[in-house]
Amino acid sequence: MIRFLLTMSLCFLPALVAAKGTVSSADPRATDAGMEILRAGGSATDASMAMMLVLTVVEPQSSGIGGGGFLVHHDAKTKMVATVDGRETAPASATPTLFLNPDGTPMRFREAVPGGRSVGVPGNIALMAKAHKKWGKLKWAKLFDPAIRVAENGYEVTPRLAGVIKTMSAVWGDFPETRAIYWQDGRPKAAGETIRNPALAKLLRDVAKRGPKAFYSGQNAQAIVDAAGQSKRNPTVITKADIAKYQAKDRAAVCTTYRVYKLCGMGPPSSGATTVFQILGMVERFDMKALGKDDPRSWHLIAEAMQLAYADREKYLGDADFVSVPVAGLLDKAYIASRSAIISETKALGAYAAGNPPGAPQRISAVSGEVSGTTHFVAVDGAGSIATYTSTVEGPFGSQLVANGYILNNELTDFTWVPEKQGALVANRVQPGKRPLSSMSPTIVYNDKGEPIFTVGAAGGKTIIMQVAKTLIAHLDWGLPVDQAVAAPNIYFGGDGLLLEANTPLAAMAGPLAGFGRTVVQWNGSGKLNAAAKVGDKWVGAADPRSEGTAATE
Ligand code: GLY
Repeated sequence: MIRFLLTMSLCFLPALVAAKGTVSSADPRATDAGMEILRAGGSATDASMAMMLVLTVVEPQSSGIGGGGFLVHHDAKTKMVATVDGRETAPASATPTLFLNPDGTPMRFREAVPGGRSVGVPGNIALMAKAHKKWGKLKWAKLFDPAIRVAENGYEVTPRLAGVIKTMSAVWGDFPETRAIYWQDGRPKAAGETIRNPALAKLLRDVAKRGPKAFYSGQNAQAIVDAAGQSKRNPTVITKADIAKYQAKDRAAVCTTYRVYKLCGMGPPSSGATTVFQILGMVERFDMKALGKDDPRSWHLIAEAMQLAYADREKYLGDADFVSVPVAGLLDKAYIASRSAIISETKALGAYAAGNPPGAPQRISAVSGEVSGTTHFVAVDGAGSIATYTSTVEGPFGSQLVANGYILNNELTDFTWVPEKQGALVANRVQPGKRPLSSMSPTIVYNDKGEPIFTVGAAGGKTIIMQVAKTLIAHLDWGLPVDQAVAAPNIYFGGDGLLLEANTPLAAMAGPLAGFGRTVVQWNGSGKLNAAAKVGDKWVGAADPRSEGTAATE
């Protein structure tokens, strides 16, 4: 009898084993690391930190500890949503003319990026320390194990990384330390070859042992100062004091409602949540569900809302610690209704000026440059806490500079380079100690019972906002499962007109979309989203099929 009962209980054991959780990232090695940490009893925050560190090693072109990021967190116990801002910060030497030529004209983008001038004080390790203190379960040092292992033992170059190494190698004559890591036998490493990064492994061991001070002071701080100051291209002054005083910041989440849902995301210095939520707010009065994904009218409405929201972004958004940013006004339902009312269901507006939200300060529109880099990753633990984290070094391989084996960001080029126009100050102008405006949009969606049901974020410069908005509409309105919502076509706009992702059902709607009275262009810009959704009582992850990403659930 006892044996029978034992056998029966063993039969039912799998049902009693608590779920470990769900992870999704842009690289299988990072996804594995996140799952390893969840298996070891780590929280969603722990898993996301381990992923951030592994991505530093294996996806150095996109993100890392030499850059910054934003974390949005849902606490299953308290039901609270919180955000942590680990955005890079301009050093004290950075003035509003940082990216201007002596004659006052803006520098050429590709001349400003490489070297010290574009480097902001990195924020990811400080973000990690703050988040770990609040929501970590495992010991700090344990979170570093997978990244140290990968950096020490080596990792295989993916086709995507090989492609970026090859492209960026054109400037690496001036960046010998970078070339030393990513070249072999006098040529760029190819897909399938192995990279070891012992300098990075050594630093990670030190930060694992001694905590964030091992990053923000001493030898590592000096390495950042030297890399930026002695750079052959654009040498600049970042001091040890700039680095020592870096702080990750707790920020109130920016939240809104969309139909029956509540959505929360990252406020300034990110434009992410504000702009994504404006887009959703403007399409809310239309029956997007009835129109569906295959009707060009859906995409027309999204396109119009997108361009109106981005116009507000370029005029009003910046680091709210330095300039007044009317986030509440921009998300005010009456204001959004007035913006939506401009949209015609039959005709493209053609011109998209910023509006005048309640509480708006005197500002002038000025477009900032931003290139496609960045990475997003998601962890949901067995208890249901969520860490959704976008991390970046800005453009491919950031500033191209290396300190202790990691890439230093070029985040300062996310500032708007022209500080004032027609006598009005630009919100996102460079100022010492300020954080450049971001498009990163880590987002959590709650259902009408207040339970989290979806989380998403993306990489890709300013297109991040649109990739996230599209995925939310695809999931919440069109009812697509998370993987199909992520894979749904991307839409954006540029100098040439409305950009439709090539070789997709959206691209096939080019004729009808042009019929609204606009220019449409086939677009090869690739997306890189990572997301997770609650299906029944379980979470499932999804990674963008356009990327090398993976998701896992146990
Ligand atoms: N540099 C990418 C972003 O902050 O949006």
